[in-house]
Amino acid sequence: MTENNSKSITIIKPKTSDDLKKVMTNLKTEFDLKYNNDEPSLSSDRLNEFQFLTILGQGAFGVVKLIKHNTTEKFYAVKIISKERIVKSKQIFHCINEKKILRSLNYPFVVYLEFSLKDNSYVYFCMPFVNGGEMFTHLRKAKKFEEELSKFYAAQVFMALDYIHNLGMIYRDLKPENIMIDYRGFIKVTDFGFCKPIKDRTYTLCGTPEYLAPEVIKNKGYGQSADWWSFGILIFEMSSGYSPFAVGHPDQMQLLERICIGKYRMSTSFGKELKSLISNILQIDLTRRFGNLKNGSEDIKTHPWFNDTDWVALYNQEIKPPFIPKLTGPGDYSQFDEYEDVKLKIAHTCVFEKEFADF
Ligand SMILES: Nc1ncnc2c1ncn2[C@@H]1O[C@H](COP(=O)(O)OP(=O)(O)O)[C@@H](O)[C@H]1O
Ligand SMILES: [Mg+2]
Repeated sequence: MTENNSKSITIIKPKTSDDLKKVMTNLKTEFDLKYNNDEPSLSSDRLNEFQFLTILGQGAFGVVKLIKHNTTEKFYAVKIISKERIVKSKQIFHCINEKKILRSLNYPFVVYLEFSLKDNSYVYFCMPFVNGGEMFTHLRKAKKFEEELSKFYAAQVFMALDYIHNLGMIYRDLKPENIMIDYRGFIKVTDFGFCKPIKDRTYTLCGTPEYLAPEVIKNKGYGQSADWWSFGILIFEMSSGYSPFAVGHPDQMQLLERICIGKYRMSTSFGKELKSLISNILQIDLTRRFGNLKNGSEDIKTHPWFNDTDWVALYNQEIKPPFIPKLTGPGDYSQFDEYEDVKLKIAHTCVFEKEFADF
């Protein structure tokens, strides 16, 4: 199996925050190298080497299944998307880009591509199986997280976004459904379907309504600061159990209006520092939003709410997670919701071969 050799550039274990900065520079070089030297996907015959076990998730574009390799007994989560669906929704660029990005990523708090495949009808993204389930599931179960747990997750999401931005990318789909918890209790951001390189601004309206930044809704162009807005929404939701602009009914227009005015009520249960950080991030005025000022992400990292966060120890995953999912082994999928099986219909001849030549 030609697996993603994602540890190709040696990174000495960082000991100081200066080391962390050097790591970031190395990771950017490594990413660029891989991103610009794409490799073709494996032949679909290789799928015969796997057992298909269950469905882990169902998203807008496809299905994610749990598979196990017959000989190595390793588990993978494989995201399967129909080429026809991609073509019909004009997402060919996004899909090929998702593969290029996923295979180039290498960071403790993001998933990566082990290998990809394509057959007559589908494309397959095979990632390591992150078996602790979605943050979404745990948040619904717990109603809300204690501030300590919120902060532990927020700090990792912060580092993941900072890494993605440092690569010159924008993520655009931050939400608890896309944050997986691993067996130890650390997070991994998944779903790079909307992630793309960004020079200055972009215009496409995409993401999830509750998490959309006002400048995304207003359609006048937006940049990486939109991810920091979503980060503010995430911290709010983790710490309170609800989204700051939620209207409690399905009328999305009202939700979007509220976001554009920036009108929300701070939860009284939040501590002083948490309130301060959230109000600095949920700023509709971009010249005042944390993450978008002259010090960039540093303003968030050095905010008093994170005063007791040891960033180096966190990067090295040497902090004891406050919550550890209950699991019986690497193939335990009990933390995932149940889904009805989705049968794949593979055509006899290859469809959209030209469109997916680069996949
Ligand atoms: N590496 C993974 N390990 C375990 N589950 C995963 C993994 N990647 C995705 N999933 C599950 O599949 C769901 C859908 O995957 P995602 O990449 O978010 O697709 P979509 O673009 O359709 O939202 C996720 O919310 C999660 O539950
Ligand atoms: Mg998703």
